Amino acid sequence: MSLHGRSVWLVLVVTLVLSVKNCVGTNRVVWLANTLTPAQNLAITCSFGEYLGGYLVTPEDHVKWENYDDIYDFKCTLEWSDEKPHVFRMYDEYRDGDCNPCLWFVKQNAACRFNGTFTCYKWRV
Ligand SMILES: *[C@@H]1O[C@H](CO)[C@@H](O)[C@H](O)[C@H]1NC(C)=O
Repeated sequence: MSLHGRSVWLVLVVTLVLSVKNCVGTNRVVWLANTLTPAQNLAITCSFGEYLGGYLVTPEDHVKWENYDDIYDFKCTLEWSDEKPHVFRMYDEYRDGDCNPCLWFVKQNAACRFNGTFTCYKWRV
């Protein structure tokens, strides 16, 4: 193979790898801020497929997730004060397919996504 032929191959392979990576969505960023009122700590436990992660988010602070392969199975349990825990799907392809980064603001009665305007989803659990 000529040198030229080889570099064409290299470009093709790199392009293919990059586009596959984009399709899988491994570069999606999900960001969540604690905007509870009155100000208080927010405890989050999230599962990404097999993996489990716990976070304590102080008032007005935030957490950020990136490059999780199992983002399609990304669920969190959110708890504060003595209220019962809320379970929320932090990423849903149908609901959130258009956001990157996906910006969430946790409020007392709902999780709100911001994309210029706030869209709030009341806790159902
Ligand atoms: C923001 O999100 C809402 C709810 O998903 C959607 O209806 C709206 O079109 C989005 N706005 C922009 C500017 O993307």
